[in-house]
Amino acid sequence: MSVHPRCDRALAWRALQGHYQAHGRTLDLREAFARDPGRVDAFSCQAPEVFADLSKNLWDLATQKLLVELAGECGLAQRRDAMFAGKAINSTEGRAVLHTALRAPRGSGAPFEDEVRAVLDAMLAFAETVRATTTSGIRDVVNIGIGGSDLGPQMAVPALHGVAHRDIRFHFVSNVDGHDITPVLEHLRPESTLFIVASKTFTTQETMANAAVARRWFLDQGGRDIARHFVGTTTNLSAAAAFGITTTFGFWDWVGGRYSMWSAIGLPIAIAIGAENFRALLAGAHAMDRHFATEPFERNLPAQLGLLDVWYRNFHGFASRSVAPYHQGLKRLPAYLQQLEMESNGKRVDLAGEDLPYATSPVVWGEPGTNGQHAFFQMLHQGTDVIPVEFIAVREPSHPHRDLQVKALANCLAQSQALMLGKPAEQARGERVPTAAPGIDADRLARHRTFPGNRPSTTLVLQSLTPRSLGALIAMYEHRVFTAGALWGINSFDQWGVELGKALCSELLPRWTTGDTDGLDPSTASLLRRLRS
Ligand code: F6P
Repeated sequence: MSVHPRCDRALAWRALQGHYQAHGRTLDLREAFARDPGRVDAFSCQAPEVFADLSKNLWDLATQKLLVELAGECGLAQRRDAMFAGKAINSTEGRAVLHTALRAPRGSGAPFEDEVRAVLDAMLAFAETVRATTTSGIRDVVNIGIGGSDLGPQMAVPALHGVAHRDIRFHFVSNVDGHDITPVLEHLRPESTLFIVASKTFTTQETMANAAVARRWFLDQGGRDIARHFVGTTTNLSAAAAFGITTTFGFWDWVGGRYSMWSAIGLPIAIAIGAENFRALLAGAHAMDRHFATEPFERNLPAQLGLLDVWYRNFHGFASRSVAPYHQGLKRLPAYLQQLEMESNGKRVDLAGEDLPYATSPVVWGEPGTNGQHAFFQMLHQGTDVIPVEFIAVREPSHPHRDLQVKALANCLAQSQALMLGKPAEQARGERVPTAAPGIDADRLARHRTFPGNRPSTTLVLQSLTPRSLGALIAMYEHRVFTAGALWGINSFDQWGVELGKALCSELLPRWTTGDTDGLDPSTASLLRRLRS
């Protein structure tokens, strides 16, 4: 049992409630900037590879101080240290949580160093043999995996396109829906394809089903030598062997699926960017680990972001957060973050199993800018809900089109400006609107064209998107999720919520053959009859 109180029982929580009523609720960013010329500096945070401007958020120094006090009372530092030390903080599964050990450098004294090094070295050596395409003959790599065994590589490979192998194509098959794998297989030749069956458990229905389809296709197409064209990344080496896979790269039960891109699950990334760059990815993540482990929470970027999340979710009541990366390479980052954050912190009981009286994980969603601008930014600017936005700007592109880069970055800044500044009714009234419907009253039209402003955002800035900076960015997100989860007093490392649907699916499957609807609720029975026929 923790000696630290749950957040809602902490003194600082009460103080934050009072502070919210007195100041937080009515804080106006425009006034706050006018009042305090030092606001940008006060709310800027430099972490390894990632700079954050947190000044356009609905908080002040008093909020920040109380949130840091809350972290102190709730034992964030102790919980963080317990994670790094390999204590079994994943209490419902009795496991340590040690993804940080996967990126610790040689000689750092991190737990399991020898095992981690051995797999990493073997995995990177294998990646290099695949990259030598004249001898390996491999031109297509297909990662078959889902959730944490898919989203990390699927996010990182396009993100690092600038340094990726030019002669190997990467494909990601995750969905059990055959519309996922079918178009991928259409373009492949067995002799030049490497399938990576990625599954921590090697039992996941989707992955096993897709791997079986891939193996059948491979043999039907005249493919020879399954053992050469299928490799496994898994903790379940015996199940992989039973599939016919002899080359496997293992990891351990203390690596959660959504924290596993640093492990053997990162094999597609290693093949794409090579051993040296993969080590740089790990080094970037490690630099962020050190920052999180040692910086005081006032200057600790993941901690600041996690504390802000608590402030927004539990005091402002904001139920979602939008992520807007202004770098097309990060197009899958929102999906990656959805699993990281919502599978980790989408919990409704505390560590002791008691129902929580407060909200936890927000909905996390987004699209790369500027695509999001032409889709849902309307709602962000003028909808009824306030949705904090997280902009990610990358200063130097890895393409030669400077004019496009300047436009992308200007759009990024303009959006955060527009959210904050808004457009008052008087300004809207003064504008000529050539397309207005004839007869519409000017005042009424101005109301449609008014922007309330005072909508919060964070801007993260990377110098360039490199293996090192991507590693740091993702580790920052991991620790931010950890921070919020620790304050909420939940287990961020289990995922029981995915089990029930899996069990019911296993129960439904045989009914497709028999047509038996006995014991089903009327809606499910009727849908089953409709879908079967
Ligand atoms: O969705 C549940 C989950 O267990 C995730 O946490 C995990 O990343 C995913 O399934 C895939 O699991 P596995 O790697 O065992 O196939």
